[in-house]
Amino acid sequence: MKLLENKTALITGASRGIGRSHALLFADEGANIIFTDLQENENSASLLEELRAKGVRADFLASNAADNAQAMDVAKWVGENYGRLDILVNNAGITKDQLILRMSVEDWNLVMDVNLRSVFNYTKAFAPMMMKQRAGSIINISSIVGVNGNAGQCNYASSKAGIIGFTKSIAKELGSRNIRCNAVAPGFIETPMTRALPEEVRKDWMTKIPLRRGGLDSDVAKVSLFLASELSAYVTGQVIQVDGGLG
Ligand code: NAI
Repeated sequence: MKLLENKTALITGASRGIGRSHALLFADEGANIIFTDLQENENSASLLEELRAKGVRADFLASNAADNAQAMDVAKWVGENYGRLDILVNNAGITKDQLILRMSVEDWNLVMDVNLRSVFNYTKAFAPMMMKQRAGSIINISSIVGVNGNAGQCNYASSKAGIIGFTKSIAKELGSRNIRCNAVAPGFIETPMTRALPEEVRKDWMTKIPLRRGGLDSDVAKVSLFLASELSAYVTGQVIQVDGGLG
């Protein structure tokens, strides 16, 4: 028996990167997948094809996670077409890095809206369905920057720290309905962005990571799989750092 057999999962911002890795791993474990992203493109098309080739039901919805009305529309569509949602992964996120003196109000607001308001939007949109089911697992993708802070990322760090407070609150609010809510906080993950860093900067990071390597998208997805599945049936309100020990 696969870990997510007969489950339905929705992942926001999943056409590429960490979200895509979640979609593929969850489908390998038998879950039907609905994923969103800002727009349809070759990434969303190829992911849809890969998911369906695994024999699960899969759908893509173009939707801006920062927009409350659009999140409500997604929940309505899922209710009408799938009838339930077992797993919600709030993954959509962006960076707009700048030192505080140079950070614009627009970049502060945008990062807070896409990274934090989106988590509120989707949790609010799907909570009624999960409450009725008396089951659900909500997984919010935070960051170790939300735990430790980082120069040049006060907007991003605040949004990711906000996710942690939100996660712990929702765990307390919805626990009695058997809805679990946890956060995953990735560290230095190998992405096009981190691979483009100058070699000496990368080397410096590696000396700080006890496991001496950058994380993979799949390292993050595997921890979310644990949180999505019954393996973590008694785990809620937790933040699991996936950072090779970076801290
Ligand atoms: P990515 O940039 O590769 O993928 C993010 C996806 O979200 C993109 O497909 C993008 O189009 C989509 N997206 C952006 N704004 C959206 C919106 N308003 N509505 C719907 N979709 C939207 O990023 P990556 O690296 O895969 O990151 C995924 C999550 O993991 C983010 O929340 C990020 O903050 C978090 N994270 C990433 C780390 C890393 O090293 N890559 C480390 C810690 C956390």
